[in-house]
This record gives sequence, C-alpha cells and structure tokens, in this order.
Amino acid sequence: MRVLVTGAAGGVGQLLLPALAGEHDLRLTDLRAPERVGRAEVALGDLADPGFAERLCAGVDAIVHLAGNPRPGDDWDRLRGPNLQVPTGILAAAEQAGVRRVVLASSVHVLGGYHPPSARPAPGPIRDAWPPRPCCRYGATKVFGEAAARVYADSGAFSVVCLRLGGCRPVPPTRGWFDTWLGPADLGQAVRLALRADVRFGAYTVTSANTAALFDLGAARRDLGYAPGEDSETYRHSVPVGPSTMCRSGRD
Ligand SMILES: NC(=O)c1ccc[n+]([C@@H]2O[C@H](COP(=O)([O-])OP(=O)(O)OC[C@H]3O[C@@H](n4cnc5c(N)ncnc54)[C@H](O)[C@@H]3O)[C@@H](O)[C@H]2O)c1
Repeated sequence: MRVLVTGAAGGVGQLLLPALAGEHDLRLTDLRAPERVGRAEVALGDLADPGFAERLCAGVDAIVHLAGNPRPGDDWDRLRGPNLQVPTGILAAAEQAGVRRVVLASSVHVLGGYHPPSARPAPGPIRDAWPPRPCCRYGATKVFGEAAARVYADSGAFSVVCLRLGGCRPVPPTRGWFDTWLGPADLGQAVRLALRADVRFGAYTVTSANTAALFDLGAARRDLGYAPGEDSETYRHSVPVGPSTMCRSGRD
C-alpha cells in the first residue's frame, strides 16, 4: 500500500516508521526533515497550505495523519491551526485525491474527563463506548478531529480509524505514565492493523497491555484484532515516580 505519513519527524512518527517501512511504500511529510526514512519519499512543507496538502495526497492509498500539536496544556491559540485547521485540510485533500483509508492520531484525552472514577457511568476502566468527555482543550480538538473524519466516512469518501493513542515513548519516562503508556511495538501493531481493518469508521483507545490500565482496550481488540504485548510494569524498578500524564479535572 502507498501510505502518506504526516508529522513523520515528530515523536510518534519516529517511533512508528520502522514498523511501517517494511510493509508499505511510504511518503513522509513534516515541516522539518524526518530521520529513519529508509527508502521513503520525503516532501517537506506546511499542511495548512491546501495546495501542498492536495499534492501530498495524490496517488496514495492511505494516510496516517500524525501532524498536530500534542500538548494537553496548550490553549486555543496554539491548538487551532495544527489540530483544527490542518486535519480539516488533509481530510478535504484526501477526498479530492480518492484516498481509501485515513488513520487519524487521536488521544486518550478525548475520554480524559472520565479519569476520576466518580465521573464514570460504570465501574472499571474507561471505555470507548462512552460518549467523548475531554479533560482539556487539546482533548476537545481531538474530539473535533474524530467528528470531522466521521463526516467523510459516512459520506462514503473513505474509511477512517481514529486511534486514541496513549503516551508514546520508547519506555515510560516515569511511573506516572504507567496507566496510559503505549510502547513502540504496540504502536506499530495498532497502526498496521488500523491501515487494513474492515471498519468504515471507528475510534479506538490503544495503550500497551499495562497492569495499571486506566482504559479498556476491548473495542480495539474486537474490531482491529489488536493484541498488545508490552506492559509498563516491566519498568517499575528502572524509572522514577512521577505525576499522572492525565489532566487534573478537579474531582476525586
Ligand atoms: N506523543 C504522544 O504520546 C501522543 C499521545 C496521544 C496522541 N498523540 C497525537 O499523535 C500525533 C503526533 O504526536 P507527537 O508526539 O509525535 O507530536 P510532535 O509534536 O512530536 O510531532 C508532530 C509533528 O507534526 C508536525 N506539524 C505540526 N504542524 C504541522 C503543519 N502545519 N504542517 C506540517 N507538519 C506539521 C510538527 O513539525 C511535528 O514534527 C499528534 O496528533 C498528537 O496529538 C501523541
């Protein structure tokens, strides 16, 4: 499959590329040059430019859209361009180009409002079946991205898999990451599955199989065949204590 990866020079892109390189022909794009490109084609530019986005999408079968602002603490002024304008531009360009599948990098912050157990409609881990409840402006932009993509999936333009990614790092930086950590092997597996899953539209939380899981992975296991193999618990004795990566919501 010919796959366009946006945001390829970012943290998630750099972790992901080795997993995609052997399986797909890659076209990589970012504002700055990515590493780990292998034999991939690279096109640098600003996705906010509609003409550039259209040229990028021409001739690709699928898009893995990672480009964006990943910072949950940021305000609207920093989020509006990368997380609202850029996704709508790439979705429109994908339709124009006849792309078949879009995999969208969403976030666990889409459901972060359920972090306090008292905010949950049922006991146990947070579930994708519950309505989005973002914990921050960043999470709200990701809800918007999922909704914008759904418009295209429902109109028949292309199919969409939104991956509500946990915290992606080679190893969890502190124990505060343990309940949402998504290791590189599981990230690679999730995106490879998302590119070929028999799904018209879906939004799935993907973390590793963490002992300290905050999120239920049942939907991704059922619809994508996701079978994570990493567990943050492995690092309990090698990383320091640290605060949770989820936003404080003022309750519990
Ligand atoms: N890092 C995580 O743990 C994590 C967790 C959940 C979701 N996500 C999501 O995954 C995606 C990637 O996150 P990341 O951590 O790699 O972020 P990052 O900031 O490291 O990388 C994002 C990349 O997007 C590029 N970009 C931004 N605006 C652009 C534009 N207008 N045109 C072209 N390129 C542009 C940046 O140059 C950057 O290299 C984001 O959408 C983020 O919200 C990340």
